[in-house]
Amino acid sequence: SPVKVQKIVCIGAGYVGGPTCAVIAQKCPEIIVTIVDLNEARINAWNDEQYRLPIYEPGLVEVVRSCRGKNLFFSTDVDKGIQEADLIFVSVNTPTKKSGVGAGFAADLNYVELATRRIAAVATSNKIVVEKSTVPCRTAESMRTILEANAKPNCRFDILSNPEFLAEGTAIKDLHNPDRVLIGSLQTPEGLAACQSLSDVYAHWVSRDQILTVGLWSSELSKLAANAMLAQRISSINALSAICEATGANIDEVANAVGYDSRIGPKFLKASVGFGGSCFQKDILNLVYLSESLHLPEVAAYWRQVVEMNEHQKSRFAKRVVDSLFNTITNKRITVLGFAFKADTGDTRESAAISLIRDFLKEKANVNLYDPQVEEHQIWQDLAEASPNLSLETIKKQVNICSSSLEACKDAEAIVIATEWKEFKEIDWETVYQGMNKPAFVFDGRLLVDEDKLTKIGFKVVTIGRGS
Ligand code: NAD
Ligand code: UGA
Repeated sequence: SPVKVQKIVCIGAGYVGGPTCAVIAQKCPEIIVTIVDLNEARINAWNDEQYRLPIYEPGLVEVVRSCRGKNLFFSTDVDKGIQEADLIFVSVNTPTKKSGVGAGFAADLNYVELATRRIAAVATSNKIVVEKSTVPCRTAESMRTILEANAKPNCRFDILSNPEFLAEGTAIKDLHNPDRVLIGSLQTPEGLAACQSLSDVYAHWVSRDQILTVGLWSSELSKLAANAMLAQRISSINALSAICEATGANIDEVANAVGYDSRIGPKFLKASVGFGGSCFQKDILNLVYLSESLHLPEVAAYWRQVVEMNEHQKSRFAKRVVDSLFNTITNKRITVLGFAFKADTGDTRESAAISLIRDFLKEKANVNLYDPQVEEHQIWQDLAEASPNLSLETIKKQVNICSSSLEACKDAEAIVIATEWKEFKEIDWETVYQGMNKPAFVFDGRLLVDEDKLTKIGFKVVTIGRGS
């Protein structure tokens, strides 16, 4: 029969583990939730007295404030967390492998395996182990094999898959009001009982009919499928944006007309300079790798194209900037507004801005950069990684990090909007125009500015998905 969960530990205090388990603590006051991580600096930041948390997410501070020290704890003592819990979330990172078999495609499962082995090594009582990280199909099976091979006598492990669908920037909203919660389990009496225990946790605030229970494989594949299909929509609209630019059609009008079809729907059809974020590309490449391993090369090629179209969109946009600026940007000052991969996050993983700036540096442009959230050390780290042939010293000579849009736009030839931060909609364009070299260009990679208004001021506006 199902265990009533009293203590939860989450291994991995990142973008997923932190917000997810903080919300569980908030919604389940009788459950003690401990979030553990090997990274001491990260744990210290979660415990910061002034609530300067390690990640920026609207509404997160309020959630942490309401339960930290009561039933929500952050700690580096992974072993103690494991020993005390009856349910363990594994929410560690699963990046794309950089070397070895499957390099560039397959997920690096080293962190998942280390966490799993740690659970087996220190657990002295029964545990429900929940795979929260996004993983290739069959990972739950591997976790089970490792756990069972190393378990102490009278210690049983039930493995569940419970992928996370939150998006950064809206994580708390998504967690409070999920479209669905997905739980995969073995279809044995024990597996179904474990599934029931986890369902009961979510049922504190999610209605039962939105808690979907399926087999382990389906759960794991559904997560990859959801991200692949979301990213595919963006690549589809971005592919159409190229046709718009060449024909004079307007991508906003096309997206609106297409989205009115209730079978297609209006969401996630915003053309952009390309999708970023830690997961879309990684999860699709993972699906590509899976398809190839299953000897399905046509299926692999189909999904790979979603990523290739995204790469094309980023380089196409950078090229359009150079072409419009009379085919050279050498020694010209280009302002890049936004560095995060989307608004309302400080996360820069796979951000389109990184590729754009890398391309501008290749053309020997000077770049003024402003982002309201991203920290300076992160920017230098990302730019250095993207241009391994340039020294950090050279990069720092060419790139100037500014503390406001206004400062960043001063004396520039062109402004490139890379992230859709709300404050960029409120820029005083008259003042910006006065301070720029002429002709003054705005390249809108996010369909953010009022093109007519800016054109009246005197700007030359180039927008994604619109002819110029
Ligand atoms: P992250 O890098 O922000 O956090 C992972 C944390 O795990 C790190 O702090 C790391 O120190 C810790 N860790 C790694 N190995 C550990 C170990 N053995 N013991 C203790 N701590 C360990 O990653 P994230 O963005 O939170 O993503 C985690 C998983 O969730 C990934 O599989 C990702 O694909 C998936 N996911 C992410 C998002 C998102 O929006 N970021 C959304 C849905 C799913
Ligand atoms: C995405 C999914 O939306 C989540 O459901 C999923 O849980 C998560 O990945 C994950 O597995 O990590 P996230 O990457 O945080 O969430 O943010 P999104 O809102 O999906 O945006 C991803 C990228 O696509 C951003 O760069 C965004 O600017 C871009 N985008 C999004 C567009 O260019 N156009 C759109 O219409 C929507």
